[in-house]
Amino acid sequence: MPKAVAFHLQKGGVGKTTISCTLACQSAIRGAKTLIIDCDPQGNASSWFLHSSPSYELADVLQGKCYAKDAIVPIDQVEGLYILPTFGIGGTLKLYSETKLYDEPFVILDLVSELKSEFEHIVLDLSPGLGRLERSCLIASDEIVTPMVPEVFSLDGLEIFIEELSKLKKNMHSTVRHSKIIINSFDERIRQHRDIYAAAESSGRFTCYKIPVEPLFRKAQEAGKVPQLYKVRGRGMKVATIDAIKKLDEDIWR
Ligand SMILES: Nc1ncnc2c1ncn2[C@@H]1O[C@H](COP(=O)(O)OP(=O)(O)OP(=O)(O)O)[C@@H](O)[C@H]1O
Ligand SMILES: [Mg+2]
Repeated sequence: MPKAVAFHLQKGGVGKTTISCTLACQSAIRGAKTLIIDCDPQGNASSWFLHSSPSYELADVLQGKCYAKDAIVPIDQVEGLYILPTFGIGGTLKLYSETKLYDEPFVILDLVSELKSEFEHIVLDLSPGLGRLERSCLIASDEIVTPMVPEVFSLDGLEIFIEELSKLKKNMHSTVRHSKIIINSFDERIRQHRDIYAAAESSGRFTCYKIPVEPLFRKAQEAGKVPQLYKVRGRGMKVATIDAIKKLDEDIWR
């Protein structure tokens, strides 16, 4: 069954782009035809993987200026991996979300449904916040996975997200699942990290995962590379990171 997964928490800089894109890479490496939809007006996922500017972007598709197939481009480092990009410069998606999206909250759901005939796995990378654009993306997904960092206010942020999502699901009659949390940049040696993980797990509502601090993520992003295939001075990602990514890949697409 094709599946669409959004990675979201309203907080910025928690690893949404890093994790969503790394998991999309993992899915394609494992052989599933996979699409990243860059739903963030900052266009970070697109600038990570694309080295030249394609002709069209997500906002063009949403506005009917082109077909999705005209805007989707392959990420040439991994067979079967594609992106529907957003250009950070120009602000077309931001403008669209602030004006026209109000009248068509299901436009992203419709697009994702159409793309499921073409792609097995669809990953949505969202911008921080819980505005109109993020809400439309959340209800377009089958599952939402929440990345968070083990910091003092992160559990408050999670509570707010749970409450807002519950209202959104009710208002929009959505059945989107939210049962997985990723504690990102986790360091087992730090007591606060262990406490936050334990608190998230003890709620009993979530399956919790850890992704360790991984310096190669930033280096791969700077170099425009897929992290699983990138090495610096002969060294790739840590074994613990690879294991965490593989476990998430196994569980998320079930
Ligand atoms: N596990 C990790 N270890 C080390 N650095 C990480 C890790 N995860 C993410 N980062 C770094 O943290 C920064 C923020 O990550 P990222 O851009 O993925 O966050 P984001 O939630 O998508 O941000 P935004 O809210 O702006 O979209 C990046 O520089 C990224 O390389
Ligand atoms: Mg991001």
